[in-house]
Amino acid sequence: MTVRKTLLDLQKMVHHSEKIAVLTCYEATLANHMDAADIDVLLVGDSLGMVIQGHSNPLPVTLKQMIYHLSCVVNGSHKAMIWVDMPFGTTQLSPENAYKNACAVMQAGAQMVKIEGGAWMAETIEYLVCRGIPVCAHVGLLPQNVHQLGGFRVQGREKERYDQILVDARVLESAGASVLLIEAVPLNLANELVEHSSIPTIGIGAGPAPHGQVLVVHDVLGLSQVPSPRFVKDFLKESGSIQKAFESYRIAVKTGQFPEPIHCY
Ligand code: KIV
Repeated sequence: MTVRKTLLDLQKMVHHSEKIAVLTCYEATLANHMDAADIDVLLVGDSLGMVIQGHSNPLPVTLKQMIYHLSCVVNGSHKAMIWVDMPFGTTQLSPENAYKNACAVMQAGAQMVKIEGGAWMAETIEYLVCRGIPVCAHVGLLPQNVHQLGGFRVQGREKERYDQILVDARVLESAGASVLLIEAVPLNLANELVEHSSIPTIGIGAGPAPHGQVLVVHDVLGLSQVPSPRFVKDFLKESGSIQKAFESYRIAVKTGQFPEPIHCY
């Protein structure tokens, strides 16, 4: 029996300066290909609301739908660590309610939950972590807050927001987050976040400094039909097969060839 990667494995990778390769995944067949390509972490992201369900943002995705896609990914893989996004409305009500929802996700096979938010989520994250649920805190561009942010825009270009994101990251780490995911921020902010972090950091649109990278699988396979953000790269174009695209993504992340300057803000 193969054992899945764990948080401990990721911490060891960081210790040995090995970059962590993460991809979003929503179904069994691609999970199987990602496992064969040695992708370290499969993230069942609520981006499935856009790339699977066709919505313009992740807000309509329900907990039940996340659990369904999680079970598909669990069935299709046996090596990669599995993280799951807590969808909109499942963590904001109260720490107790967030715990109940996170338990359902953990019981379905997740090894870590990802929660979007700033310092205001610290109490909830602490509540979950104290009760044995590892949390990846997600800062920077928060797709679940798209209406408040006025669109999918780079975050932290203005001094006030820049400083706020730094504070958010520090507070969430103190609350017990095990991983920090940083989305769509300028290079100088990403570098500062990584420098001040003592937990593994994973970037998307956050330059090369984070300890690992994540991309939405549809972007890696060149499937997205809407104009892509600057940080995505189609790895299928130059690889010729889905399996090879995943392998070349992993190699590019591990060797620091991805992201390139053109993928950064
Ligand atoms: O839902 C998602 O795909 C995400 C991205 C940041 C990877 O959270």
